[in-house]
Amino acid sequence: MREFLSTRELSSDSIYSILETAEAMRKKPESIRSERFAANLFFEVSTRTKTSFQVAEKRLGMETLDFQMESSSMTKGESLYDTVRTYEAIGADLLIVRHAYDHWYDELAGRISVPIINAGAGKGEHPTQSMLDLLTIYQEFGSFEGLNVVIAGDIKHSRVARSNAYALTTLGANVSFAAAPGFEDDSFDIPYVSMDEACDMCDVLMLLRIQHERHAQVSYRTTSYLGDYGLTMERERRMRDHAIVLHPAPVNRGVEIDTRLVECDRSRIFKQMENGVHTRMAIISILLNEWGAGHENFTEKYQTIAT
Ligand code: NCD
Repeated sequence: MREFLSTRELSSDSIYSILETAEAMRKKPESIRSERFAANLFFEVSTRTKTSFQVAEKRLGMETLDFQMESSSMTKGESLYDTVRTYEAIGADLLIVRHAYDHWYDELAGRISVPIINAGAGKGEHPTQSMLDLLTIYQEFGSFEGLNVVIAGDIKHSRVARSNAYALTTLGANVSFAAAPGFEDDSFDIPYVSMDEACDMCDVLMLLRIQHERHAQVSYRTTSYLGDYGLTMERERRMRDHAIVLHPAPVNRGVEIDTRLVECDRSRIFKQMENGVHTRMAIISILLNEWGAGHENFTEKYQTIAT
């Protein structure tokens, strides 16, 4: 694994290696070999993902290079490639990039000589979010084969939905979507269920925020959305005893989920955030190791990545 941009081509072995390494990092964090610089290049807003990468890097003993879009030379018209290339030239050993374009990494392909991690690509993919979601499911159920996972919400505009749909399908889960009219994505061969059906049958309910900032025009009125398509108190009561609720956050309380359910017994929303740090430590470690810049004796301590 030379970069981490998408879950589409990830094999099941690779995913399990990431999850096992994340579990090992959770139990015993370990610094990488010597001073390494990570550049966190967030061209779109972020609370969790950016902070989580910063904590992961610090726990690995890395130096972090911050980037403020508003005070950067992007305001003078500098391109994404030139900005990224600059951080590489100055000495970044690892680049974490979030950008509003769905395929921002295409313009960097083969032109950058340090590992790159996709921290969110427009409506495209969000592969590290997917891995932390998978770790949360794995800790709960121990496997994915035959698990009923419903991804519910604004599927069409969600990079979280896309990365999870690819990875969960690879792992053998029974993936379904639940979406309001206009939020479906027909590029997937995945069945749709109603929100009532979703709550009756799922083991894992993965809720999504409406991606207003990616819509051309105002879509749903938020007051009726909860009752029609969200997780209400009544729907939560219908869920099976063992079923859990995930959400990548930020949560719009009272829209996709009743505010009283955000921290209910089934909710793993804050657990997902905790897992984000372990997962990102694992992905960074695996990549740096692959590039010969990681831990001493990495392969003896952690599983090797299969691809
Ligand atoms: C998600 C994102 O940015 O795609 N948030 C996150 O990274 N935790 C989900 C969202 O913004 O709705």
